[in-house]
Amino acid sequence: LARGALPVDLAGRRVLVTAGGTREPLDPVRYLGNRSSGRQGYALAATALARGARVSLIAANVDLPDPAGADITRVGTARELREAVLAHRERADAVVMTAAVADFRPAEVAEGKIKKGEGGPPVLELVENPDILLELSRERPRPGQVVVGFAAETDHVLEHGRAKLERKGCDLLVVNQVGAGRAFGTEDNQAVVLGADGSATEIPHGPKENLADRVWDLVAARLAPGGE
Ligand code: CTP
Ligand code: CA
Repeated sequence: LARGALPVDLAGRRVLVTAGGTREPLDPVRYLGNRSSGRQGYALAATALARGARVSLIAANVDLPDPAGADITRVGTARELREAVLAHRERADAVVMTAAVADFRPAEVAEGKIKKGEGGPPVLELVENPDILLELSRERPRPGQVVVGFAAETDHVLEHGRAKLERKGCDLLVVNQVGAGRAFGTEDNQAVVLGADGSATEIPHGPKENLADRVWDLVAARLAPGGE
């Protein structure tokens, strides 16, 4: 991919990208988490930087080299991710929620390590985490802001994706097909991007940087003319 051939079409824009996966502590040494590597979010940050944007990157448990030039905030849990997103969102022309947010967290975090004992295995009580994308989409403090979600689906990808887009209220939803070793932790990704305007854009199998660039194309087309 010839980077130099790409337009610097995000110059003067600020974007907010979340990456990685949240971890919800169970006790001082254990957590509930997911397999998100952060690669897709980092690719979105790197490509936005290459296209001239100022990038705030909120990284949840990502172990990758930081994209040079991004303003990085590190978080652990879904609630920390939400705080960081809310702190940055008002200045962002676009927000891309690539992070895999744990849907649930343990209702209580044990102070000490949970031990095996007489009582048999513990039963974990879970509570639901805040839905950050839903909140971002509902309240729009910055007019014209483009809000993008990511969804991983194993089956009925289009149907589930369309329903999710409507439920969340975001402008674009990037729907990945996952399962059987695809997407999570791999270099490649393939997706369809659904728009609130009814559009569906297929992105062929390829590197995560390519998917990221196609997502920015769709975002750029929805930004109000101008910039800062
Ligand atoms: N998301 C979020 N906050 C949550 C859960 C998800 O902001 N508590 C965001 C993710 O970052 C992603 C999008 O919502 O951009 C879709 O996530 P997904 O897990 O596919 O959607 P859910 O609403 O959690 O539905 P599901 O039951 O399919 O997990
Ligand atoms: Ca979920």
